[in-house]
Amino acid sequence: MSAAADTTATADSVTAISVRVIPPQMVWPLRHEVMWPSKPLEYVVIPGDEDAATSRHFGLFLLDKDEPVSVVSLFWERREGQGVDESVAQFRKFCTRVSHQRKGYGTLLLERLVADARAGGAKSLWCNARVEQAGYYRKLGLSDVPGRAFEKDGQRYVIMEMPLRRPTAREK
Ligand SMILES: CC(C)(COP(=O)(O)OP(=O)(O)OC[C@H]1O[C@@H](n2cnc3c(N)ncnc32)[C@H](O)[C@@H]1OP(=O)(O)O)[C@@H](O)C(=O)NCCC(=O)NCCS
Repeated sequence: MSAAADTTATADSVTAISVRVIPPQMVWPLRHEVMWPSKPLEYVVIPGDEDAATSRHFGLFLLDKDEPVSVVSLFWERREGQGVDESVAQFRKFCTRVSHQRKGYGTLLLERLVADARAGGAKSLWCNARVEQAGYYRKLGLSDVPGRAFEKDGQRYVIMEMPLRRPTAREK
């Protein structure tokens, strides 16, 4: 898990963007606003959010703004008696501020997460996808895991995954 903490990219010719590893406290407000605005803020805090050995949080920032417009969290499993399994990574709680969606920010952020997961040794990446986002994730290279759809709090999900190949020398 040795990826650099900061990257800078440009989505278009005008907007300067930075993608950064951020503390969990910085992802909670956007998670709340976008994903569960009707629930209390505590609802969006998930077990492991504050365990740096098993999670890492990313935020995409515009120009010099202090608040991220898109966030996503990367998780690894802690296996009983074997430490953290870095070969299988999960992304969770991916969201972009409604006013900033469909501009390519989420894709940029997820690309950074994929690069970090791969550099950390993950061989596959999976997520519980809201069914309405499954088409978007398929475009990004994830596939549905058959027979693993479920419903939680009135929201339907499908489990999706993708293999992660090793980075080439040029990509490192
Ligand atoms: C899913 C989510 C995080 C994607 O974030 P985003 O910043 O909008 O992502 P992108 O802009 O990179 O791509 C999203 C869509 O916009 C399209 N897009 C990207 N750039 C675009 C542009 N310049 N103009 C128009 N569309 C564009 C992408 O092709 C994609 O299209 P699709 O939905 O038809 O597949 C965002 O929609 C979101 O927060 N949704 C609500 C929360 C949620 O459901 N999270 C996922 C839980 S599994």
